[in-house]
Amino acid sequence: MTGKPVARKNGRAVSPPLIDHVAAPPAPPCTLVIFGASGDLTHRLLMPALYNLARAGSLDPGFRVIGVSRSPMTDEQFREDLTTSIKKCFAETGGAFDVQDGHVTVEKNQWAFLRDHIHYLAADLGDPNSYVDLGNLIASLNDNGTKKKAGDGDRAAGNQAAIGNVIFYLAIASSLFEPTIQHLAASQLLKQTRNGWRRLIIEKPFGHDLASAKELDKIILKVLREDQVFRMDHFLGKETVQNIMVLRFANGFFEPLWNRQHIDHVQITASETVGVERRGSFYDATGALRDMVPNHMFQLLAMCAMEAPNSFSADAVRSEKAKVVQAIRALPPREAANDTVRGRYMAGTVQGKPVKNYREEPDVRRDSTTETYVAMKLMIDNWRWADVPFYVRTGKALATRKTEIAIRFKQVPYALFRDLPQATLPSNELILHVQPEEGVSTNFQAKVPGQQLAISGVKMNFKYSDYFQAKPNTGYETLIYDCMTGDATLFQRADNIEGGWAAVQPILDAWHKGYGSLTDYKAGSNGPAAADDLLARDGRRWRDLT
Ligand code: BG6
Repeated sequence: MTGKPVARKNGRAVSPPLIDHVAAPPAPPCTLVIFGASGDLTHRLLMPALYNLARAGSLDPGFRVIGVSRSPMTDEQFREDLTTSIKKCFAETGGAFDVQDGHVTVEKNQWAFLRDHIHYLAADLGDPNSYVDLGNLIASLNDNGTKKKAGDGDRAAGNQAAIGNVIFYLAIASSLFEPTIQHLAASQLLKQTRNGWRRLIIEKPFGHDLASAKELDKIILKVLREDQVFRMDHFLGKETVQNIMVLRFANGFFEPLWNRQHIDHVQITASETVGVERRGSFYDATGALRDMVPNHMFQLLAMCAMEAPNSFSADAVRSEKAKVVQAIRALPPREAANDTVRGRYMAGTVQGKPVKNYREEPDVRRDSTTETYVAMKLMIDNWRWADVPFYVRTGKALATRKTEIAIRFKQVPYALFRDLPQATLPSNELILHVQPEEGVSTNFQAKVPGQQLAISGVKMNFKYSDYFQAKPNTGYETLIYDCMTGDATLFQRADNIEGGWAAVQPILDAWHKGYGSLTDYKAGSNGPAAADDLLARDGRRWRDLT
């Protein structure tokens, strides 16, 4: 059974046209300063996202970008580099940049518009003079995005009023967050004027544990107001993640079932086929738990488990999310370790390609004890979810790339069909498919046609692509646009971040104290056997990933 919409014309089934995206009006003009301009994130995700926004007509003619990085480069060289990367991104299929409607070529006019609005500044982020140069450059750019020559009067160096709206995007190593923010503040660049707001986008990792996250928040909130800070979690840019709220709160029939009366347990999975790739030194110091759980996995959990907010305002939504994450039960070290499995991949084959043992990956310590997989059982201590386990798992170099939330309902209360061979009927499941396929499906029981009463499991499947036109989307478009329009709903407030860390801190402490051991799994498998045991203990099983 598929959910594909079918209309009838002269008795013949025809598919109605796919529904197009709702275009957003251009965001207010601003300068987007990207620190870390030569990095992967800028080339692979931010620029393609800006290009998609340009194509959708969502950028104001007064919009401009200033890339900031160490290496000396002219505007023209930077633009050329970006042109090469963006063409490459669009030519690729799959991976982080999904081109869903086949081969999309870069549209010359739209790219030319954006390209002409891109500038470059070579700067040392530790040098206060770099921020003076930056202020001067922002002020000296006129509305057409072209640089004015020195001595151009009202937009001269240091003229705060000429700077206008600015977003500072920290796409840099986390060790540089603090000094960069301090320098921005000292150079008065974070000071809002009547002529312009100042906002800060900060990428993860936001801290390394609860204490460091709190410390970073303290530093930021000394120089900025909370509504100027946009803590990025790119999972919130994913359409299906945003759709969880619509699914729950724009439909009448899910919510009455969405609680401990009807739900047996929830499984949240983010399984990746990629290994650590070129990020060995970052990853080895981070591990699967810190890299994925307090942020991405808890976003999925919060969307699925939070109470209905009393409005769709940024604060109402973020307050509900904070509450549910704060309700995750904190366990003493031994129990926390007992409810957690950590694994590390060994050599194997992922989708036909050989994968090295994790410890032999570039920039990984040969005696590393970092986990590349984590699975855990979490309990949420509130009225809605008391006694309903949330099982969470994520790992690298696994057999399949799949992110999903599976809601497993309780079994029927009475075995009416007890004489059937299928005496124990599987319980119903609702699956929210986040990626790579986006949609919602449900499994239920149906009668097999025929004189005998026989029952079989069937599936109802809604795919986004059956209803809506696919547009190339990096996931960053909505987030950048929302920051430009000042909508923080899809960004993390300080309490959301700290709540996430507080919930994983007992596990970090337990591991630090030596509780729980690291188990190996073969690259290309479904993860360590110990993760299966974690559920088997409760008489449950993970959903099959393949
Ligand atoms: C990043 C993690 O935040 O998210 C990566 O640092 C991970 O390790 C990535 O691969 C997953 O994001 P996506 O969008 O590819 O599922």
